[in-house]
Amino acid sequence: MRIFFATACLLASSSMALSAAAPDEAALRASMKQIGPVCTGLAKKITAKDATSAADAKQLQAWFGGVGKFWKAKKAEDGVTFSKTAAAEFKTVSKLTAAGKWDEAGASFKKATATCSGCHGAHREKAADGSFKVK
Ligand code: HEC
Repeated sequence: MRIFFATACLLASSSMALSAAAPDEAALRASMKQIGPVCTGLAKKITAKDATSAADAKQLQAWFGGVGKFWKAKKAEDGVTFSKTAAAEFKTVSKLTAAGKWDEAGASFKKATATCSGCHGAHREKAADGSFKVK
């Protein structure tokens, strides 16, 4: 569990890179750039039972609300579902960490971060130069 926390977000972000894109994709990328470090930080905070976890989880919930709108505009149902699941699970993480229920929070965090690799696997395309773009 501990190892999973430490690596979940890193795995999600380690192989991502910048690429030229349309304006809406730039907005998505900007969100992802914020999501990455906060998610990695939250993993450590849950392990450390840090009380500021609740605020981070709530922020992630909000960001995934925006991410969901991108996929809705793109008419990609699976992307919408991944985003909704992430937002819902981070909301639960926020509530559970606020209540000091760290083990349950860890389980929800795991469900939330399963969406990272799920969506990246489905909607990330590797360009010839090694960067990634939305598909
Ligand atoms: C619904 C789809 C979806 C979900 C869910 C999702 N991502 Fe992403 N993410 C993307 C796409 C698509 C890209 C590629 C954007 C690009 O590079 O153009 C991306 C890119 C990234 C990047 C690289 C940003 C950059 O260019 O520097 C990071 C970091 C990242 N995601 C972290 C996460 C983490 C952490 C989670 C889970 C908590 C997550 N993502 C969940 C779709 C998603």
